[in-house]
Amino acid sequence: MRILTFSILKNCKQKLSLYKLYKNLSLDVTQARVQPVAEKLPGNTSYIEILPSWKPNEEPELRTTVLQHMRILPNFVSEDEETALLAEVEPVLKRMRYEFDHWDNAIEGFRETERGKWNTQNEAILSRMKEVGFAPHTELLPYVHVLDLAASGHIKPHVDAVRFCGDTIAGLCLASSAIMRLAHEKKPHLALDALLERRCLYIMSGVARYDFSHEVLGGERSMWRGEKLPRKRRIAFICREQPRPEHRQ
Ligand code: OGA
Ligand code: MN
Repeated sequence: MRILTFSILKNCKQKLSLYKLYKNLSLDVTQARVQPVAEKLPGNTSYIEILPSWKPNEEPELRTTVLQHMRILPNFVSEDEETALLAEVEPVLKRMRYEFDHWDNAIEGFRETERGKWNTQNEAILSRMKEVGFAPHTELLPYVHVLDLAASGHIKPHVDAVRFCGDTIAGLCLASSAIMRLAHEKKPHLALDALLERRCLYIMSGVARYDFSHEVLGGERSMWRGEKLPRKRRIAFICREQPRPEHRQ
């Protein structure tokens, strides 16, 4: 199902952005029951900062849960593996222009592709990512979503639509580190920043995926523990679970 991308959405008569789509279709998020996360490798919580607006005594259980459901595994791929993954998609990406979606500014400065077949080396890396990111026998979308954000690009807060994506989303962050901010949908002051270091894997599921929005901050807002984080061109390789049967159309 090749629906997640702007490229497909652009073909719609009425132009819909990914963000609009997410927003429109994520209204039934609360109906999606959050299931236990596959506990495999624990995430490294030193890559997550709870924002000061989330006071220590406020919703401590939610804090514990979101920290379990947003896992970050630093150095998940080596530099050589990163180079190999990027080399396979670069010829495709290079032919596209970065899009600056002035229609609603939902996502700025991006180009993207989806890919199902990979060379042997990259297939092995992506299989490892799927093995670590997802419970055994999880059905995944057949394509890896490759999202290339220009140095000046950013993604605004959204929740991935339950119609197009199931419980778990796993992303490799390549070429540049970035800050991903999660904010509770109903109480947005309950927020956290995740440092997605270059070559890390992040795995977002359960509460982090359904009850919190996520965004990728632009360079001018990218700070980590009080210091500016240089945000360069960044390429994410994202694997998603198939939507739940009850959300499929
Ligand atoms: C998305 C998204 C995050 C990333 O494409 O829905 O949130 O890591 N991407 O680029
Ligand atoms: Mn998303």
